[in-house]
This record gives sequence, structure tokens and C-alpha cells, in this order.
Amino acid sequence: MGAILAIDQGTTSSRAIVFNADQTIAAIAQREFSQHFPKSGWVEHDVEEIWEGVIAVCREAIAKAGLEPKDIAAIGITNQRETTVVWDCKTGKAIHNAIVWQDRRTSEFCAQTKITGVENEVTARTGLLLDPYFSGTKVRWLLENVDGARERAQAGDLMFGTIDTFLIWRLTGGKRHVTDATNAARTLMYNIGENRWDDFMLDMLDVPQSMLPEVLDCAADFGIIDKEHLGAEIPVLGVAGDQQAATIGNACFKPGMLKSTYGTGCFALLNTGSDKVTSKNKMLTTIAYRLNGKTTYALEGSIFMAGATVQWLRDGLKIIDDAGQSGAMAQAADDEQEVILVPAFTGLGAPYWDADARGAIFGMTRNTGPNEFARAALQAVCYQTRDLLDAMKADWADASDETILRVDGGMVASDWTMQYLADILAAPVDRPTILETTALGAAWLAGSRAGVWPDQDGFAETWAREKRFEPQMDEASRSARYAGWKDAVKRTLSKPQ
Ligand code: G3P
Repeated sequence: MGAILAIDQGTTSSRAIVFNADQTIAAIAQREFSQHFPKSGWVEHDVEEIWEGVIAVCREAIAKAGLEPKDIAAIGITNQRETTVVWDCKTGKAIHNAIVWQDRRTSEFCAQTKITGVENEVTARTGLLLDPYFSGTKVRWLLENVDGARERAQAGDLMFGTIDTFLIWRLTGGKRHVTDATNAARTLMYNIGENRWDDFMLDMLDVPQSMLPEVLDCAADFGIIDKEHLGAEIPVLGVAGDQQAATIGNACFKPGMLKSTYGTGCFALLNTGSDKVTSKNKMLTTIAYRLNGKTTYALEGSIFMAGATVQWLRDGLKIIDDAGQSGAMAQAADDEQEVILVPAFTGLGAPYWDADARGAIFGMTRNTGPNEFARAALQAVCYQTRDLLDAMKADWADASDETILRVDGGMVASDWTMQYLADILAAPVDRPTILETTALGAAWLAGSRAGVWPDQDGFAETWAREKRFEPQMDEASRSARYAGWKDAVKRTLSKPQ
């Protein structure tokens, strides 16, 4: 007893991870799914493909672990955040593909709304910015653009959910329409101070409240899944958006603790405890987790291109066959060359939020080759993390100068990148033994709620570091390199800031 199934429904793949009672991994199954780009800047997912993939990986992981479905004590779900699904509760079918967090189709609406001077009010209520990234303007777009959607919504036939909500609704045979506070906090419709759907935002976006799910704590009774899906009735007891789940999985439970996850993008979250810090530097204020009715807040910095920059080296430039090669190439790059890449391929996220900026590379010479490109790509991720850390420190007086960064995600396997990160941040970087921190966070929520895993303090004690990277670079080199990055960004922005 005590095995927990974590479902990690991400942007490019769905994964299921079975954890043993001692929190070690028993089995992993993963399936990629299609990305649809119907127009420039649009990104969609087919929710039926996601649904089928999720069920398949769950079954596969349970079988690989040598377990029967009835051996799973509970399920924890973590998911790509903000991605928006609207479905008909009578047919169970989505009225449109899911609109993915990366999708920019509502940028015009955001720009027009900003002109009215309402953004400060939006931020005060939601902690977010008026940006297409978040769910609210995507729901509005669906209601405006899918034939008959607004009438069906008004008749109470349509439901909105982020991916967690959609999966739970399907898994429970339509019995539960629920989400957790962290996912709600990314919708642009949730008041993070008062912990309720926000009428002002719903009016602005013209979204009927009847479409919205009930919001629960991250560890709560989200419903019991029907037997037909996995072969047993299993309770869903934990839910958190993937970046918040990684914060939990990295046991960043104390104010001042900081994690950064390097997946497709990079998302850094600084635990600010009960302090709902309003950023002056375009960081987001978000809910880190809500447990036993108590909300813990975080400052978040979101960078859109991290691992995706390395993918570009592989699939776009074709200078590597495998992401793992980039670290060795960076190591072999010519020290005399200062090539700087600003990976604004889809604009720049925090702290610049410049949707119109596009990628640029500076400092190339006749000797510049694949090694220097690889190094510039990895360095860019480190410089952007420094941008976030500096902004967070400026925002929150309680932020410590002694910050240690806990990292996870695919890119952290590269020692070279982690060392450069520590050097540029002038702060130690801790790489944990369990790199599946996102899934672990969701599993802990479910396992602790089920009473088969340790409580928060007990779990924090089990967190272990595989390696610490200490800063080694001298201050003069660090400052010169970071100044070079800042200058490159300045030259890349679509308009001065
Ligand atoms: O906010 C978007 C984020 O939740 C997506 O994470 O890991 O699926 O790229 P990931």
C-alpha cells in the first residue's frame, strides 16, 4: 500500500509516474502528442488525443510497476497551466481544440484593453498581467468565435476548465467540475487575495460564472475515478499546476525558497509565504499552493524559451543530434568570442513582456561556429534566470542575499549549464536527486492527503541534493558578461522600455 500515481499532463507530452510508498519511482510512461499551429502565433491541442494519451500512459505505468490498479492509493494530477478547454457537459465533447498557453491570438484584445488603463486593477485582483498567456482572454475568444457558443454557455451547457479540470471531469464520468487554487490563479478570472472567482474580471471578459469549476485546496477530494478508465475506483486527492507542483516537489515550503524549472520554458517561483507581493518589475504574483485553507503566495518569473532554445539548435539549426551534446559543445567553445543569443523567438517573457521582440544574435566573427551557438543558447537561459532573480529581489524586501536555487527539468542534466548558472547568479544551485520534481509534488499532495505519505515537514526532510554548484566566476567577469546580455536585450526589444 502507499503507491501513488502522478499524472503530469505537459505541453508536449503526457506522463504517468508511479511512486512507491517510500517516494522512489516505480515506473514511468510517456507519450507525446500533436501540436497544432493553425495560424501564426496560434497553438492548439486536440483534447481527445490528450485524453487517450493520459489513459494509455496511466495503464502502462501501473503495469510496468508490476502493480494492479487497486494497489494505487491515490492519484495526483499536475498539468500545463492556462491551457483552456471549453466543453459541452451534455455531449462531453470540447467545442474547439484546447487553446494552449503559448497561443497569442488574443494579443489585440489585451492591447486594446490595456489602453483603457485597467491593467493595475487586473493585477491587484489576479496577480497577473493583461497578456494572452492566461486563460481568461482565451475563454472569451472561444465564446465569441465558436458558432453558438455564447448562447450555449448562457444556457448552462458549456463548462470551462484547465487541463486538470477537464481530465477530472472525464475521469469521474462528469460528476466533478473542480480545479485547485494554483490552476485557478492562472486564469485571469480568480481573485488570489480573496480566493474566489472575480466578478470584475468576469464582466471584463464577458464569461458567465456558471462555466467555472469549483476551486479546492491542492490536497482535497477531487473525486473518485470511474472503474472503466484504469480498472479500479481510485480517488484523485492532489492537484497543482505544473510549476507549483515543482515548487512543492522541490520542498520550497519556506518563504525565501526559490525553484526554477527548465522545461520548454523556464519558470522560477519564489515562495513569499503569506505575503502577496505586488511586483514593480513585471513578475507575476501567484498562488504557490493552498493547503488546509491557507494560501501560500509566490512571485513567478516566466521565460518562454529554455529547453526550446536547445530544441532549436537540434531541429532548426541542426547542429546537434541530441540535446545532451550542447554542454560539451559549450565547453569547447572559443573563450575569445563573446557571442550572445537573445532567444526572443516568440517574444520575451518576464521581466520584459515584449510580445513583438524577435530573436537576435550578437558578436559573431568569421570564427563563430556551432560550439559558440550552443554556448550562447545555454548562456541565454542563465542570463534570463538572473533577470528574474534580480527582479524578484528588487520586489521583495525579505528576499535573502543568501538565495539558493533549487532546479529541475531536462536542462539541469548539463553540469556546464548549472555551473554557468551559479556563476552568473552568484548563488549556489542545488540539483536534487529526484529530478521528477513536478510529478513528485503532485504525488505528495495526493499521498499526504491519503495519509500514506509523510506530512509537509516529513516530506521536506526527504528532499535530497544530488549536487551543489557553487559560484566560481570572479565578480568582474560576471558583471561584464551580464552587462553584455543586458545590452543585447536592449538592442532586441521592439521598443525601448
Ligand atoms: O505556464 C505554462 C507551464 O505550466 C507549462 O509548463 O512544462 O508544460 O512547458 P510545461
